Amino acid sequence: MSDPSPTRPTLGITALGMYVPERVVPNSDFEARMDTNADWIESRTGIRERRFSAPDEYTSDVGVGAVRDMLRRDPQALQDVDAVICATVSPDALMPSTAALIGMQVGLTGAAAFDLSTACSGFVYALSVAQGLILAGSARRVLVVGAEALSKVVDQDDRNTAILFGDGAGAAVVGPVPAGYGFQDFIMGADGNGGSSLYLRCAAPQLPGGFPMGESVGMNGREVFKFAVRVLGDSGTQVLAKSGLTTADVDWVIPHQANVRIIEAAMERFGLPMNKTIVNLDRYGNTSSATVPLVLREGVDAGQITDGQQLLLIAFGGGLSWVAGTMKWWGGAPSLKADNKAEVTA
Ligand code: ACO
Repeated sequence: MSDPSPTRPTLGITALGMYVPERVVPNSDFEARMDTNADWIESRTGIRERRFSAPDEYTSDVGVGAVRDMLRRDPQALQDVDAVICATVSPDALMPSTAALIGMQVGLTGAAAFDLSTACSGFVYALSVAQGLILAGSARRVLVVGAEALSKVVDQDDRNTAILFGDGAGAAVVGPVPAGYGFQDFIMGADGNGGSSLYLRCAAPQLPGGFPMGESVGMNGREVFKFAVRVLGDSGTQVLAKSGLTTADVDWVIPHQANVRIIEAAMERFGLPMNKTIVNLDRYGNTSSATVPLVLREGVDAGQITDGQQLLLIAFGGGLSWVAGTMKWWGGAPSLKADNKAEVTA
């Protein structure tokens, strides 16, 4: 870790939960609606199916689902939480914040609550912000939720975007962990010049400079692809150097799940084989801010991510934005052990 203060507490993830909606949407569902086919989608993206939320199920609902999953695994998980951050690009509303709506439903009324909008970088950005709040003395523990109901904001007739995105949520509590574990370093960045490559309009019909935005998510796939490959490699390499690590020290690369070809290119840049990363986009598609916590949760449940391992988190998204983080996984809390779903009751 760079320049650690002897008094600085070690902070990391102390609880984890996930939720995906019931409805499975296979690639073949798009064939009837648009000029595409299931094989094209799978071969160009790696996605086979995704989940879509029910008509009356929105981002706060899927976020609450992830927090409830966490509480089923560890009923004490929210103790001392006095701030909630929801990373999302598909909020229920601009106000109230989705974080406040989630907090209200999981017993955190009165806790600070705000949404964080850096699209697919959002969850890892929020981990860093949560760490900052705790180090500044503004919070003891922070609930970070990455939640999306993207099916509600993506044009389901646009083949450029509809095939890519899915709905889901992951929830984590950030708090003190034993010395030698937890967050090491983060690198975050954004470049608004790339705003027209990936956007979802709100109050303004156009971006500064006059680029017009349509009603739904708009994307220049090729530009985002090139940006993603470059920025994942660069930010991952930078954060490892900041932590005094090399790729040889990394047990798992935990990447944002947008396209398996982007992940393959990033792993190639790191000189690491694909068995050093975890991919679940084949089942969930791109769930934006939810992808990283979904991978963490499933990696822990599968017994892949275990106590003391070195993780490298990397993500990119609208903004255009990017983030990379290093952390030593702490597996000591009840919800951070492998496959304990079976032991808990609702
Ligand atoms: N079905 C069939 N054909 C299609 C489809 C589709 N769904 N979409 C595009 N095509 C066509 C194109 O029109 C093009 O045809 P042409 O050659 O006649 O012009 C051809 O397929 C190839 O198009 P490309 O855009 O070059 O395809 P590419 O291999 O780049 O794959 C994709 C497109 C999957 C979108 C890819 O560019 C990609 O994954 N980009 C990154 C997107 C991404 O990560 N977005 C999320 C960002 S994270 C966030 O913050 C939300």
